[in-house]
Amino acid sequence: MRMYDVILKKRNGGTLTDEEIREAVQGYTRGEIPDYQMSALLMAVYFQGMTDHETAVLTDAMAHSGDMMDLSEIPGIKVDKHSTGGVGDKTTLIVGPIAAACGCHVAKMSGRGLGHTGGTVDKMESIPGMRTELTREEFIRTAKEAGITVTGQSGNLTPADKKLYALRDVTATVESIPLIASSIMSKKLAAGSDCILLDVKTGSGAFMKTVEDSVCLAQKMVAIGMHNGRKTAALITNMDIPLGNQIGNALEVEEAVRVLRGEGPADLTGVCLALASEMLYLAGKGSREECRRLAQEAVDSGAALQRLAAMVRCQGGDEECIFHPEKLGRAPLEAEVKAPADGSISKMDTEGIGLAAMMLGAGRETKESRLDYLAGIILKKKTGDAVRAGEVIAELRASEESRFAGAGARFLEALTLSDEKPDPEQLVYARVTEEGVEYLEKG
Ligand code: URA
Repeated sequence: MRMYDVILKKRNGGTLTDEEIREAVQGYTRGEIPDYQMSALLMAVYFQGMTDHETAVLTDAMAHSGDMMDLSEIPGIKVDKHSTGGVGDKTTLIVGPIAAACGCHVAKMSGRGLGHTGGTVDKMESIPGMRTELTREEFIRTAKEAGITVTGQSGNLTPADKKLYALRDVTATVESIPLIASSIMSKKLAAGSDCILLDVKTGSGAFMKTVEDSVCLAQKMVAIGMHNGRKTAALITNMDIPLGNQIGNALEVEEAVRVLRGEGPADLTGVCLALASEMLYLAGKGSREECRRLAQEAVDSGAALQRLAAMVRCQGGDEECIFHPEKLGRAPLEAEVKAPADGSISKMDTEGIGLAAMMLGAGRETKESRLDYLAGIILKKKTGDAVRAGEVIAELRASEESRFAGAGARFLEALTLSDEKPDPEQLVYARVTEEGVEYLEKG
């Protein structure tokens, strides 16, 4: 196989053979195919797309480029959950413990944040002592003992995705449905769970800006999962507005705890209960109604909060921070963002708000940036709320005064005020399963 011919074929809209795809992935992972040729192939895929069969073969080749996790030592059904990324998305820290409290095992690998999106591993590391790099034995032991473990991705899982994702990031080829589907699903297949729930975010803070595109991505991922013998489903959820009221690592852990105490904001609680119920449904815990009731009971009884604390303890963290989240600490400096005029918030550019949080120190501009775990934003008003000129819309937290001016301006730029009050936001748009797409009612 000549890489030149593979690039040419895809550039001209052809369909690659299984062998061509596998050799390209293997050759690139081994360092035999240079970045410039793989970049050209990625750009050709970006413009020409891939058939479902090509996408499935690419996913399989990427999944098998490194170790495949064997979770058979953990008893019962193993359920994984993946979010395509957003702002204020702390759902893993809520739905994982709920699923664990209902008898599932969650043995999950998560990512770090980059740019405007946050990552679960960073949020967890804001808990003093918390380790997110575990040996295989520690990973299995924590999953058995706490029912849930969340770590960073191990060194030799899907090395092809690591290299390809880094290349896509710098060659403007991230936003391609077959490339996103294969990237996410290769990691999910290699991570070894029996059931996979995908949370596909839609809107201004997400990769996918429209429900249509999100449904298309979800259908491809569900098909790949089911084809590989994993029970897979997806919910399409709203990322046109930050999830919950707190953005920033320790701030998000605190808000996750609040949801698990039954005191969380309605949007975050609603999305988490929908996700948790769907995970339980995939794991065969009953009808959708029963699963919803089980998820609610796990919160009401405090069992889910206990699971989160158990995971933190098993991974070396200070579990007192879960029972008393004020122990996570507070950034030394605060500033308020005030409404420039009277009106209603009709739109929040969620990506802009994520960037404002990053500018405060809560996120990474480059992979090497250092995080300030206590930095972030507390939203006092969100889309649909009426404001008076001078009223506080948000509180910013940082450790250096110099961070406030730029972040405050970026935050204000992300808001649209208008005279008319917008319709309430829909939280979950659709459910995608092997049976098809079900568009859901508002509420
Ligand atoms: N998340 C991933 O893991 N891969 C992508 O391509 C996009 C989002």
